Amino acid sequence: KAGKRMRLLEVNKEAAKYFYYMLRDPRGEVGMRYLTGRKLTDETMHHFGLGYAGKNGEQVVQYLRKKGFTDEEIKDSGLAMFSEQRGLRSQFWNRVMFPIQDINHRVIGFGGRVMGDGEPKYLNSPETMIFDKRRNLYGLNFARTARTGNIILCEGYMDVIAMHQAGFTQAVASLGTAFTVEQANLLHRYAENILLAYDSDGAGTKAALRGIGILREAGLTGKVINMRPYKDPDEFIKNLGKEAFQERIDQAENSFYFEIRILSEQYDQSDPEQRTKFHREIAQKLCEFSEDLERENYLQAIAEKYMIRPDDLRKMVIGYASQTG
Ligand code: CTP
Ligand code: MN
Ligand code: MN
Ligand code: MN
Ligand code: MN
Repeated sequence: KAGKRMRLLEVNKEAAKYFYYMLRDPRGEVGMRYLTGRKLTDETMHHFGLGYAGKNGEQVVQYLRKKGFTDEEIKDSGLAMFSEQRGLRSQFWNRVMFPIQDINHRVIGFGGRVMGDGEPKYLNSPETMIFDKRRNLYGLNFARTARTGNIILCEGYMDVIAMHQAGFTQAVASLGTAFTVEQANLLHRYAENILLAYDSDGAGTKAALRGIGILREAGLTGKVINMRPYKDPDEFIKNLGKEAFQERIDQAENSFYFEIRILSEQYDQSDPEQRTKFHREIAQKLCEFSEDLERENYLQAIAEKYMIRPDDLRKMVIGYASQTG
């Protein structure tokens, strides 16, 4: 079984090489033009081992066979699928390729992006013997040695790459799936503070709220970086540059404040009934702090922010705390 894992790692390594050379071949010119258009330097493309999957899904399979891999090994690597009519074909064709590495820089899977509009925008390797999506993070192989004391967690491949190119080498992304407790525990080995740099759209906000809960569960502290008016770190940096991004890092919002602010937007603050409901929600959330001093400090800060009498809020908190024990 260990032998099989080794073989699958080798399939991925060879495939990554193939894609890498295709990107630098005349046949990969569209891919090169796309990545250059997204403002990536040659050095960045090299650092992340970016590639291009040729126009034809058969070619990489043929290349791998020539390298001595069996059809079963190629299929089990998740790169290719078997079809009755056409035999073994790569899933990836005419896409720019992002090799996904584990913390030891071994390629365990791929993400492939269409150039321009098209569905799906990203195609990812399926889970395999060597690719466990819940336990890996894109970019962590570089971020683990960044020694910045924090890690920036974002949504996408391009966000990680754009941040690293701008010098924020502590950036990682969860792999096209929701951030997991396993990933949080993995991050805890390298940092105590996680800065969330999720997309500024509704989906990103929801993902950030979920992420905050998971970080807390893992004993990590979270802060949220505001990306507005841009959609994600890649676009922010492209438009405003790294100094502006560093300012946003410095101004990152305490995750509890962030949660309460998002909550406040769901209630009409001019309506007494809704305002009361909002205050109840705050009181319930304050109960989640097990340490009295911390809870009191947050209570005072939130009361001031939202113009609530601290005594009223405190009474409510005590009420809920006695209910839930
Ligand atoms: N994703 C995915 N499959 C999709 C869409 C997204 O796996 N069909 C994952 C990718 O890892 C992607 C991340 O979710 O990087 C965030 O998605 P999105 O914000 O839509 O893409 P961006 O990373 O912003 O991609 P780009 O800038 O290339 O448009
Ligand atoms: Mn800790
Ligand atoms: Mn998004
Ligand atoms: Mn983007
Ligand atoms: Mn995005």
